[in-house]
Parts: sequence; structure tokens; C-alpha cells
Amino acid sequence: MAKQKVIYVCSNCGYKAVKWAGKCPSCEQWNTLEETLEVKKSGGAVATQTNVANSIHKLGSLDQTAEVRLSTPDSELNRVLGGGVVSGSLILVGGKPGIGKSTLLLQLGLLWQGKRILYFSGEESLNQVNLRAARLSGRNQELYFITDTSYETLEAAIKELEPDVVVVDSIQTLQLAQVESSPGSVVQIRECTNALMQLAKQRNCSVFVIGHITKDGFIAGPKVLEHMVDVVLYFDDSHLSYRFIKSTKNRFGTTTEVGIYEMTGMGLVPVENPSNIFIDSFGQESVGVAVSPTLEGMRPLLIEIQALISQSFYGTPQRTSNGFDSKRLAMLLAVLEKHCGLKLGQRDVFLNITGGIKINDPSIDLAVIAALASSYFDAPIAKGSVFSGEVGLTGEVRPVRMLRERAGECSRLGFKYIYHSSRSSEVKTNQINAVGVENVAALVRKIFK
Ligand code: TYD
Ligand code: MG
Repeated sequence: MAKQKVIYVCSNCGYKAVKWAGKCPSCEQWNTLEETLEVKKSGGAVATQTNVANSIHKLGSLDQTAEVRLSTPDSELNRVLGGGVVSGSLILVGGKPGIGKSTLLLQLGLLWQGKRILYFSGEESLNQVNLRAARLSGRNQELYFITDTSYETLEAAIKELEPDVVVVDSIQTLQLAQVESSPGSVVQIRECTNALMQLAKQRNCSVFVIGHITKDGFIAGPKVLEHMVDVVLYFDDSHLSYRFIKSTKNRFGTTTEVGIYEMTGMGLVPVENPSNIFIDSFGQESVGVAVSPTLEGMRPLLIEIQALISQSFYGTPQRTSNGFDSKRLAMLLAVLEKHCGLKLGQRDVFLNITGGIKINDPSIDLAVIAALASSYFDAPIAKGSVFSGEVGLTGEVRPVRMLRERAGECSRLGFKYIYHSSRSSEVKTNQINAVGVENVAALVRKIFK
């Protein structure tokens, strides 16, 4: 017999309490405890010695049934998923409102010829989705659509249609009839995800679940949600019309890959050559501009750094930085002052990474130094030069990881010289000349001799 009991569940962290309190004892948020009915099943299966023996296996001794991966028509999605969607897996896609989650998955459904896809939306009407589908390219005869919020309808539709792929837009609108709390509550989200996981495994269909995020950037709902699912993807926009898709969890592949799209009037278009986007002054000699190969996941991406140093007319000089950590800029300015003798105390300094991109990779330090020095001396950097190295407080230039791949991308785009740490292992390519520098003073001497 199932026993029912009233408990209080925190809508932020999922903490369960027997008594209501204003503040959650676990995550210390106010007014997050909600009344819920807890159903306890009595008489669960008890393991006996005979049935447990059958479930113990030696790893590696089993027949290797290769996982079935469905390669999607979206090259960027394949890249982040590690080669395609694994049958029977549950993929959570999170991101800010309006970022393009629904567009991404509707587009996938339209382009994926030969697969039966069910798009289950609790957010938009048939009319709205039809209008959007008309703007996107691709027509799939086997793409089905339902507007509903009931989990039972979804389950019945999956049993009826037997789709290969299901899209649920969004988990916050889905509702299980037997769970009393409202859609979007911790209990509903957890129970619906649990039921979906089981259904996906039983029916061997892959399920994409869209999840809203909170203002702190986490997927709304219980923390356990991300532990339950197989893959967690985040859709993000550190750039104007560019969208980045990254995985923070992947049971079937790495989490280092990044997919890049551009949002256009006709939906999301994969960006195959991201380096081309972020470099403005290609092949020109400009003062205060330096190029650096950074990494987005495992992909080298060339970015351009612009610096402007000018006479300050106020007591405290301005330091403004876009896309680069301002504390790190202050450190690099101090290094230039101390080790290269540049007088920056009465100068305004502006630093900008073109394309609106934010970079957290210290390997661009050397390019920042080069751009700053170029603006200070009012002398351009020779055409075809790129810089890759981390700069330390003593002015030394440190090696960066994957220098060979970075140099490869630079040479592919026609750059001739890569300045890097003299301590890094040799970058031997016949297309690009590698110039090792020990410290920032040596770099400044070399480029502005
Ligand atoms: P949407 O997929 O609805 O976002 P989410 O589901 O993450 O909330 O994305 C909507 C945004 O994308 C909207 O602001 C308009 C824009 N958009 C385009 O620029 N081009 C297009 O072809 C489409 C379909 C949307
Ligand atoms: Mg949406």
C-alpha cells in the first residue's frame, strides 16, 4: 500500500523538510519551501542472494554491443555530442530565453530527412511553430507536432508514433497528472524527467529536453536534474549574432568541443570557419592591432585585439577593457611599465577584442602586450604576425597548450610569423615561421627594432 505524507520541498535545491520554514536550511534561500505530497511505496523489491548473483558482471567480458549513434544533419551538434545522438539517450538543452533553443531543435527536425520526429511543445501554438518552420529551410514529411503540457499525452503519442527522436519544449511546462504540484516545480520537473528517461530507454528513442535557466545561469529545477540526464548542452551568446553550444556533461563523449552558429533571418547557420569572423584587419598593417590564436573547445579560433593608448586629461587615467579581464589588463600594463620602461601612468588605455567576443584564455596575453606596445610607440606590427603566449609577473613568456594546432590554423589563414614562448616545444611547419621569445622586453625589441 502506498502511504501519503505532506512534506516541504525547496524549489531551489530540492531539499526535503518535514516542517515548513521561511528559509531553506540547505541552500539558505527564502520562501522556497513548497508543500508537496510524498508518496511512499511500501514493500519494494528486496535483493536476495540468488537474484543478486545474476546481476553481477565482469567488466570487459561482455559482448560489446556498439552504441547506436544517429548522425544528425547538423555538423555543429554532431561535434558537441561526440559524433551524433545516442539512441535512447536524454539530452537537456539549456539557455536564456530567446537565444534560439526552440529554433535549433525545430530546424533539426526539419532537416533530418528519413527520421521520424515528434516535436512536443507546451510553449507555443501550432500556428506559431508553423510560421517559424516556414522561415527555416528543410521540409521533413515525418515531423509531427503536438501542443500540450500533459506527460500522459506525450507518452501516448510516443507509443502511437514510435518516433526516432522526440523534442520536449520545455520541461518546465510538462506535467504528470499524479503529481500534485504545479508545472515547473521541483517535484514535477524531477518526476517528468524520470518518467521520460525510462520511456526513452524502453522505446529506444532519443529525447531532447529544453530547459529554462535561472538568472544565475543554471537550468531551473532541482540540482539533481543535470545528474539524471545523459547529456547537458548549454546554448550561449557571448557574441552579437553568434551562438555557442557547449556540453557540460556528456556520458558518450568529451565536453571540450564547441559548436558555433550564426543566427540569421533563416534560422541558425553553422559557422565552419570561425576565425574569418573575428579578424577585421586581415592582411593590413594597423597601429595597435595584434592577432592571437585562442581555443574554443578544441578548435583554434583567431581573434583580433585592438589597443588605444592616449594622453589622459584627468587626474585618474581611464582603463577600459571589452572582452578581456580588466584586472589582467592592469597586470599586463604594470609588466610593460616595469620590464619595458613604457610610461603609462598618465595615459588612458582602451582594449577591445573585436566581434564582441569574451576571452578567458591567458594565451592571448602576448598579443595584448604587442597591441599595447604598438599603440604606445605608434608603430604598426608587421603584416602576417600572430602572438601566442602567457605572460607572467616577471615579464617571462610561458608556453601555451596545443601550440601546434594554433600555428596550423594561423598558417592555414595565411599568417607568416608566430611569436611564442622560447620554452615551448618546437612548432615545425614549413608554412609558418616560429619566433621564440623569452620575455616581453625581447618581444618588444624584436617587433619594433
Ligand atoms: P527561440 O528559438 O524562440 O528561442 P528560445 O526557444 O531559446 O527562447 O529564438 C527566438 C529568437 O531567434 C527570436 O528573438 C528571433 C530569432 N530568430 C531569428 O533571428 N531568425 C530566425 O529565423 C528565427 C526562427 C528566429
Ligand atoms: Mg523556445
